[in-house]
Amino acid sequence: MKALTLNGYDGFSSLRFAEAATPEPGPNDVLVKVTAASVNPVDAKITRGYGGPSQRTLPHVLGRDCAGTVAKLGSAVTGFKIGDAVFGVADPSRWGTHAEYVAVPAATLSRKPAGLSDIDAGSLPIAGLSALAGIVTTGKLAKGQRVLIHAGAGGVGSFAVQLAKHLGATVAATAGSKNAGFVRSLGADQVIDYTKGDFSAAIKDVDLVFDLIGGDVRFKSFPVLKPGGVLVHISVPPMTQAPPRSDVEVKPAPVKYDTALLDRITALVQMKAVQPVVTEVFPFSDALKAFEHVATGHARGKVMLDMTQ
Ligand SMILES: NC(=O)c1ccc[n+]([C@@H]2O[C@H](COP(=O)([O-])OP(=O)(O)OC[C@H]3O[C@@H](n4cnc5c(N)ncnc54)[C@H](OP(=O)(O)O)[C@@H]3O)[C@@H](O)[C@H]2O)c1
Repeated sequence: MKALTLNGYDGFSSLRFAEAATPEPGPNDVLVKVTAASVNPVDAKITRGYGGPSQRTLPHVLGRDCAGTVAKLGSAVTGFKIGDAVFGVADPSRWGTHAEYVAVPAATLSRKPAGLSDIDAGSLPIAGLSALAGIVTTGKLAKGQRVLIHAGAGGVGSFAVQLAKHLGATVAATAGSKNAGFVRSLGADQVIDYTKGDFSAAIKDVDLVFDLIGGDVRFKSFPVLKPGGVLVHISVPPMTQAPPRSDVEVKPAPVKYDTALLDRITALVQMKAVQPVVTEVFPFSDALKAFEHVATGHARGKVMLDMTQ
């Protein structure tokens, strides 16, 4: 099969197309013929050694999200059959979705939402599950509350803004000037242009901050919280300073990947609470351009690879 392989940690020059053996699914895996895959920020970061080289042996294939069709079933897999249209998340310790085929644990795979293109379906897993983790599971956002979402225009943020609005919250998000209208179109009540001054001067009395940026942005988010408010983050880098308040909670949001949560995303899409936000689709043969675009830190919505091209 054709695969985009990572051969070192010198950035994108370490990525090379190669012919590789098609993975053999283990007993609990499903072999998926990949038709759509995303490029996430973490894929770009790993090319520079993020997470440490001990996490994988080289060559490695990056990519977590996919949509495609079931090509082969592991001996213990029930609930899928060959030819099913599926979407899901690959195991990061094994070869990923930037290849013609990927062996995905059946436990992190589900049926593709009806009516969605493969590109749209493949855009949903990591962004959607991260937004669910931050806004619902850890953030416990409730109707009538006020939430501030940092990076509302990005892959996770564009899902989180829609989800928070669907839950009945008043939604504020940070974005650059060119993305203000876009983030408002996703349902944000207030968009704060972080390029035009300190966002924390533009908002207060927030119940929940969902931080997708980290570092100084996280530190500057404390003043906007109500007493008893919660700051949830999935982002790096960490803050270098100690938390400046003790009357608010700070929580990382562990992101869980499983079929039931993927089905929850499908339900949200089918009730039109959330729509996939794909803004760039690159042919697989141009995957490096997708990596470069994501690495700018200014991609809007999801950046996808059409694995059929
Ligand atoms: N722990 C996990 O499991 C997990 C899962 C998913 C994501 N993450 C991490 O979460 C972060 C966000 O992921 P993502 O996929 O949403 O990233 P992304 O799509 O690459 O985010 C890009 C967006 O960030 C916005 N942005 C950049 N700097 C900003 C700033 N200072 N303030 C506000 N917005 C800013 C950009 O908007 P403008 O162009 O308008 O500036 C752009 O739209 C990444 O670091 C990712 O690695 C972690």
